[in-house]
Amino acid sequence: MPITTCIFDAYGTLLDVASAARTAAAEPGNDRLAECWPAIAQNWRQKQLNYTWLRTVMDDHADFWTLTGDALDWALEAEGIEDAALRDRLMGLYRELDAFPEVAPMLRQLKDAGLNTAILSNGTPDMLEAATISAGIRSDLDDILSVEMVGIFKPARAVYDMVGRRFACAPDEVLFVSSNGWDAAAAAAYGFQVAWANRAGEPVERLPGKPAHVLSDLTGIPALAGA
Ligand code: LAC
Repeated sequence: MPITTCIFDAYGTLLDVASAARTAAAEPGNDRLAECWPAIAQNWRQKQLNYTWLRTVMDDHADFWTLTGDALDWALEAEGIEDAALRDRLMGLYRELDAFPEVAPMLRQLKDAGLNTAILSNGTPDMLEAATISAGIRSDLDDILSVEMVGIFKPARAVYDMVGRRFACAPDEVLFVSSNGWDAAAAAAYGFQVAWANRAGEPVERLPGKPAHVLSDLTGIPALAGA
């Protein structure tokens, strides 16, 4: 089927999650962070994702904003940093992450071609609205679909089901784009046409579902979508 609808993961795919720690590390007075920000950024992201899966198995859901704060607390303590003002600053920066440079022109091209565009993300509606407005990409997204509407994190099928309900389309009319290999695998198993933006050059996940396309960034998305 021709693609009618392009659906994007948010964090790591459109938005650079490392930009929060990187930006704070360059600010005056944050010398300790400047020494260890890559480790903070990596642990922050990994714990955040682990907590989504662990809480799902534990049947104890909390929203992604809460888990992002919990994960940051773990990452700061792992580096021996106890600094409430820095914690607040990093959480604030998570609401205004940088978009990757190719994202804005890519979304504009999809909209100019008349395709549906949306985010499908673990993030809360509030944090996704804030970050997409801050990054200047909100106006080229038709909608923001948050897992909070179904109360379970990716990669539950109930999350991917939101796309067909919102855009009245079949799974094979959807180009689903994620930089997270596990999200790309699960979306392919669900039946979407999937482009994995393998920004980190990682091996393919050994999970059910293989992405049809593997890219290094999002510049090739309009061509895949027929835009
Ligand atoms: C998201 C995470 C998985 O945006 O990156 O859903």
